Amino acid sequence: MSRRNNTEYLVSLDVGTSKVAAMIGEVGPAGQVQVVGLGVAPTRGLKKGVVVNIEHTVESIRRAVEAAELMANCRVRAAHVGITGTHIRSLNSVGVVPIRHREITARDVDAVIEAASAMAIPADQQILHVVPQEYVVDGQEGIQDPIGMSGVRLEAKVHMVTGTLSAAQNLYKCVERCGLTVEKLVLQHLASSDAVLSADERDLGVCVVDIGGGTCDIAVYKGGSIRHTAVIPIAGDLVTSDIAVAFRTPAQYAEQIKLRYGCALPELVAHDAPIDVPGVGESPTRHLSRQMLAEVMRPRFEELFRYVRKELHRADVYDLIAGGVVLTGGVAQTPGILELAEEVLEVAVRLGLPHQVEGIEEVTRSPAFATGVGLLLFARQQRPAFGNRRGSSGGSGQWLGKIQGWLKGNF
Ligand SMILES: Nc1ncnc2c1ncn2[C@@H]1O[C@H](COP(=O)(O)OP(=O)(O)OP(=O)(O)O)[C@@H](O)[C@H]1O
Ligand SMILES: [Mg+2]
Repeated sequence: MSRRNNTEYLVSLDVGTSKVAAMIGEVGPAGQVQVVGLGVAPTRGLKKGVVVNIEHTVESIRRAVEAAELMANCRVRAAHVGITGTHIRSLNSVGVVPIRHREITARDVDAVIEAASAMAIPADQQILHVVPQEYVVDGQEGIQDPIGMSGVRLEAKVHMVTGTLSAAQNLYKCVERCGLTVEKLVLQHLASSDAVLSADERDLGVCVVDIGGGTCDIAVYKGGSIRHTAVIPIAGDLVTSDIAVAFRTPAQYAEQIKLRYGCALPELVAHDAPIDVPGVGESPTRHLSRQMLAEVMRPRFEELFRYVRKELHRADVYDLIAGGVVLTGGVAQTPGILELAEEVLEVAVRLGLPHQVEGIEEVTRSPAFATGVGLLLFARQQRPAFGNRRGSSGGSGQWLGKIQGWLKGNF
């Protein structure tokens, strides 16, 4: 069977701490995204969301992309790639430009966003996103698209995301060694949010918490715009290592036990049947209970949600999230985790499954694919026919493209 070699596909690469997920999508006649290829490969080359071993990461990306290409029967050349890690910083900023009683043009909007981004950032960081939150024309707030309006003074409020140059360069390097071009680096939190949130939730105020293997990524929305993003370095891998230490068992068994019998709330454990726990080295297999396992897991999840709450208070956004919290990422599948999150965060918590896409059912059934789906949605937005609207969550002007071009050329 001959392979199609087509540039019309949307391609996403979620290079996570636990797995690389490569997705290939097609855009239907009504603009809907149809996932036609999925490839997943476990990763060993990342720690807390950041590449620490190029060879291992390249191998995982290659395997995931090949599997996705085989399923979709095509070859892909470029991808939207997710980025996260504790090196990510975010801040809100304001820019102003004079208009002098004429109609606001796209150039004015680019200029005001550039003005808002003119912040002193540390030499080792570079801008990843500048997402417009709202525009203000002569004091009139809450404007989403000011083009064509008249006024004297145009103001833009933006959310800026930066990351270290080296983390981005290593990711570029891994992807390009697999023969792919990075079309755009996208903050994983923004991608996951696109995949799991409804427009109503963004409007009312909501917090997306994506808990993966290495990091917990937070994004807060209100009034339809992003207000805050943060990364907490506590996630599924730490729970696995807690189990390994508490039960004195190798990490791979601890992970299997967690996936099979794990629960975040000891009081929800219904059948307290014994679990076989292989020992380390010469130690014999022991029998421990599910109740004990849940008692080992709960404190770490509790600590994580306390950090999330503290971060929301620190950034002064806790009171914005009337729509509650949407939990996604692989860890969101842990039984009892939604209840525990509600208990600690004291807001309504729901599970965030990726929606807005059709096709492979496995993708829409698992919160672990939220980032990959969100990256496909980002890719669709960049297609002239389906988006690339100013004020969209992509939100980059031409000058940001130049920065990313420069970044690509500098390693
Ligand atoms: N069914 C499940 N129940 C409980 N936990 C699960 C389940 N499936 C996966 N996990 C856990 O989810 C984590 C992986 O989640 P995910 O695939 O979202 O991570 P990732 O995107 O690779 O990592 P990160 O985003 O942190 O870089 C692992 O810790 C894994 O143990
Ligand atoms: Mg992830």
